[in-house]
Amino acid sequence: MELSRAAKTAEPSATLSLNALAKQLAAQGEDVVSFTVGEPDFDTPENIKQAAIRAVQSGYTKYSPAPGFPDLREAIAENLKECNGLDYDSQQIIVSNGAKQALYMLMLCVLDPGDQILLPAPYWPSYADQAKACGAEPVVIDCTSNPGLKLTPDKLADAVGPKTKIIMVNSPSNPTGMVYTKEELQALAQVAVENNIWIFSDEVYERLIYDNRSHVSMATLSPEIYNHTVTFNAVSKTYAMTGWRIGYAAGPEEVITPACRLQSNLTSGPNSIAQRAALEAITGPQDAVDEMLQKFDARRKLLVSGLNEIDGVECKTPGGAFYAFPDCNGLLKKSYDGRQINDSMSLSKALLEKVRLAVVPGSPFGAEGYLRFSYAVSEENIEKGLKRLKKFLNMRDDA
Ligand SMILES: Cc1ncc(COP(=O)(O)O)c(C=O)c1O
Repeated sequence: MELSRAAKTAEPSATLSLNALAKQLAAQGEDVVSFTVGEPDFDTPENIKQAAIRAVQSGYTKYSPAPGFPDLREAIAENLKECNGLDYDSQQIIVSNGAKQALYMLMLCVLDPGDQILLPAPYWPSYADQAKACGAEPVVIDCTSNPGLKLTPDKLADAVGPKTKIIMVNSPSNPTGMVYTKEELQALAQVAVENNIWIFSDEVYERLIYDNRSHVSMATLSPEIYNHTVTFNAVSKTYAMTGWRIGYAAGPEEVITPACRLQSNLTSGPNSIAQRAALEAITGPQDAVDEMLQKFDARRKLLVSGLNEIDGVECKTPGGAFYAFPDCNGLLKKSYDGRQINDSMSLSKALLEKVRLAVVPGSPFGAEGYLRFSYAVSEENIEKGLKRLKKFLNMRDDA
């Protein structure tokens, strides 16, 4: 039987599949050190778990309204106002099954088949696959030779064409951990506004930010920018709630209202119990977030300094999220233990097979020659992982 274009072009999530392979080996009793995880290794804070238990006991076991419970949308609006300086009312917010679904809902509202979405590379791979599922074309802007791997306004202006509908901005970034300054965001937004394209601002890592930087929400920059921007966020990364699947989008009603209608038919509202837990996460005590941040910060320093001690590896210090994204081009085009390693995918596979070290190759992020290390792992495992990387590099044949 003939299948759709979306079915034929769908790729499994590159990050999830390597993580799955590492987990499978671990389940077989292998001692794998994995840096592939895209989620905090901490447990969801107790007050949030208790809120979910109370929700079950008090009958939150039915459908919620399709865009989410009104009090949760209200709390998100208040939180965006208080913490980000963003002025949305609750009608301008859609709660979805994670930021991932929110992104897809909003792409469906903006992209017609044949339209283009601009993805500054390195980029999170699901953006491209979601756009393709809408019949649209992801257009990659290569920023790997730019300082900090960041998009610049001239590169953005060059990439905009008649079919461009969206520029994707992700700060702090997965995979690079880089954070745009207010001035950089302003300059990019200017180009988007002049060309009348949407800015999708993925801010899911906004609370994981280091060295006293402050997160700037794109839509705060001017009323015009606000009118062109959809802001995406989630409780997933901030509160160690990846499995609860609650994220949201906030933006002009012209685009949020149809997204709510679509969601009512595609998935209905997200899980009712998880929404009550998310309400507690957002409105309850925030100490756990700061504690997690401090631990991530210590791991970040340990990992980045360890990587930079290795010949052929260059790692910029990430300003946010929990990823390091070293340039490993210096390790490629060489032979290790009888195996020629020419690209980041074969390097990742060899690391897993030879020394049981799992890392994600840069290629699915549009950055060949790089590797992504998540530091949502213990300091002990960071040290162990670095030793394994060095052990593998010592297997170089011509050294
Ligand atoms: C940049 C980015 N955006 C969105 C998401 C999706 O978040 P959620 O788990 O809330 O769907 C992720 C998850 O890895 C991410 O890295």
